[in-house]
Order: sequence, then C-alpha cells, then structure tokens
Amino acid sequence: MTEWTPDARELADLELLLSGAYAPLTGFLTAAEAESVAGRGRLPGGAPWPDPVTIALPDEIGPGDRVTLKDPEGAAVAVLTVTERDGHHAAGPVEALDAPVYGPFARLRRTPEEVRKDLPDGGEVLAVTMRGPLDSAALDDVAATAEELDAAVLLMPLVFGEAGPAVVRAALKAAERLPGAMVVAVPLAPREDAEIDLELREHVARNYGATEHYAGPAPVTIPGPPHRRGLVVFFTGLSGSGKSTIARGLRDALLERGGRTVTYLDGDVVRLMLSAGLTFSREDRDRNIRRIGFVAAEVARHGGLAICAPIAPYAATRDEVRAMVAEVGGDFLLVHVATPLEECERRDRKGLYAKARAGLIPEFTGVSDPYEEPEDADLVLDTTGMTIERAVGSVLNLVTSGGWIR
Ligand code: ADX
Repeated sequence: MTEWTPDARELADLELLLSGAYAPLTGFLTAAEAESVAGRGRLPGGAPWPDPVTIALPDEIGPGDRVTLKDPEGAAVAVLTVTERDGHHAAGPVEALDAPVYGPFARLRRTPEEVRKDLPDGGEVLAVTMRGPLDSAALDDVAATAEELDAAVLLMPLVFGEAGPAVVRAALKAAERLPGAMVVAVPLAPREDAEIDLELREHVARNYGATEHYAGPAPVTIPGPPHRRGLVVFFTGLSGSGKSTIARGLRDALLERGGRTVTYLDGDVVRLMLSAGLTFSREDRDRNIRRIGFVAAEVARHGGLAICAPIAPYAATRDEVRAMVAEVGGDFLLVHVATPLEECERRDRKGLYAKARAGLIPEFTGVSDPYEEPEDADLVLDTTGMTIERAVGSVLNLVTSGGWIR
C-alpha cells in the first residue's frame, strides 16, 4: 500500500471529511463533482455544496490504489481508495484509521457527533465561527441573539495555520462572557472567495448542530513594527563570492548594536551539522536549503533575526524559503552576492575551483553545476574591489532603512 503525506490544507479537509463536519461528503471530489460544485454550488445529485474539496497525489498513484494518508509526524490518519484521477488530483472515499492527533487543541477538536450529543435536544443552537477575536459589540450581538432565540451558543474557532492559537484564546475568552457557551476548534482552512468561505462555514456549523450561524468578523491583522518582526536575511551566491564574510560582518554589527537576537546559519557550518551527509546533487542541495529555511522560519516565528549564507543555486528553492518565512509572518530579504565566477575563481580561498577544474570535485557550482541568478534580490553586491566594510555597510543600510533595526 502506498503512503502519502498531504499538505496542511488537505489534511485539514481530510479531518473534516472524517469527522463528518463535511457531510454529506465522505471523500475527495471527482472532477465531475468538483465541476458541478464550482458551476452551480451543488453536487451532481443536487445537494448544495460550496467548495471543491480535492487532494493532489503523486502521478504514479492511480485508480484502484489504496493510499495511507499520513500526518507530518508520520501517524497514519486515513486510507484513501482512489476511484479516479484527473491531472494532479485524485478522488475517492476516505476511511479513518486512528483519531487524528496531529495539530494543536486536540482537546477542543471534537467531532460533530460528540458535540451534538452535548447540545440540548431539539433546541436552537447559535454557532459562531471565528477567525479572529470578537469585539465587545460582536459579543453583545451574539449574547442578545442567543437570548432572543433561547439558543445554546457554540463558539467555533477556525484553527488553520498560524492564527490558530490566537483564535482559540479569543474563543475561550468569549466563552467567559457567554455563560454556557461551548467551544469547539475546527480545522477549516479559509477559502479565497469570501462567499464560498461563508457558505462552507455555514455547512460545517450546521453539521455541528447549529440552527443559526453568526460569522465572526474577519481578523484585522496589524503586523507588528518591523523592529519586532522576524527577519531572515538570506545571502545567495557562488562559493568564494564573499557571502560568509559579509554575513559574519552583518552578524557582528547587529550584535554590537544589540536589540535583536541573531542566529547565523553559515552554509559550510550547516553542512557539518544540520545537513551532515548530504551531497551536492540537486536533490540534496534542495534538502539543505529547505532545512535552512525551516530553521530560519522558526527563528522568525519568534521575532528573531536569522542570517543564512548558503550557495542556494536554485530559484524555486529560494522561493520556497521566502514562502516559509512569509507563512510565519516574518520578513525576508534576499541578498545576491554577485561576485563574478572569474573573481571567485581568482581568489579560490579553499582551493576548490582548482580541484573542480581538475575534475576532482564533480557538480561544482559555476564550473560543472548551475547557479540560477536571482531576479528578485533586494540587494545585489559584487564584491570585486569592494571592502568588506562597505559590503556589510550596504546590507546594514538595507536592514536599517526598512526599520528592522533601530
Ligand atoms: S548549496 O548548494 O547546498 O547551497 P552550500 O552553501 O551548502 O551549497 O555549500 C557550499 C560549500 O560547500 C561551498 O562553499 C564549498 O566550500 C563546498 N562545496 C563542496 N563541494 C561543492 C560543490 N560540488 N559545489 C559547490 N560547493 C561545494
């Protein structure tokens, strides 16, 4: 049997399929179902359904295959029996294996069946789906509506992604102001189309037993000031271009000023520890960069400043890191140390270019392996004939002028 780990959004949908929160759906939609939903907001049988719930699987998985879907921690969550393939997407019913344990707030993530059991029989239920805090006007509104309808209140923080913990806290806080209110966390990923998003929230609320739905306001995210936000300064460039020298200079300058915690992820140092054992194949280089990106994003998540200095020869992988950092609300600066190959080779501090030319090091970046020049660099530095101080100064200037340090 094949195994596959869906992405975060697909896992969230999977959990809702399995729990019954997406009833009448019991699996990922076929192309015909998805088309019908997109076209007329209904499943082919006529039941209203707002959103094409689909999953992408590797191409080699085909109809008839049974795929074990795993969470990122490796726990098997469900079996998907593939009935159809359409491009990247695969359709088919899902069967639960173990109760999902992945993701936060397990205590609060109850199934519709469990929740319905705790709701008063036959009474009105006012569900409040939340993606952000309820202000006091909204709270008053909910309290008044509940009283008017004599309804039980079900607070449903929609816990997808980074905002999850804050929304749960907001729901628990709101529950203190609404005596008897129940809180159930629902991993419903937001939909781009506001109307579809609202309809889907309504469907899920109804499946949890709601007779009325109050859509909490969309969160107003006010990003903190830049000097408190996480920042990743990512240097890319050929071996010997001066990345490490500038990165170290930047680290020292930042530490001298104080005010920010700094984590330095040097290319060569990372390869001794975090990426020990990796080769210089494209696959391993990508792995290496993703690992660096993962750590840097964790640093940024906590408002820290990470400096990375690998070659990072591939644009797509650099983009992935940029996205990982954005995902946690951090900022990302790409610095291309664009010292030309001839100059790097002339310096040849580690003697590696000579070895590469002699055929002793295969797949050497710039010699026998590609380097994709960035088109999205925030700063480009050719260190030929440039002092280290000046190079560091221009990066520092970029960081200061953006307000990341004061
Ligand atoms: S990356 O491509 O995965 O980003 P990384 O920055 O970690 O590379 O490692 C580059 C360093 O490894 C170079 O500075 C050099 O010292 C050393 N190295 C050893 N073999 C190679 C190779 N084939 N290509 C490039 N660098 C190599």
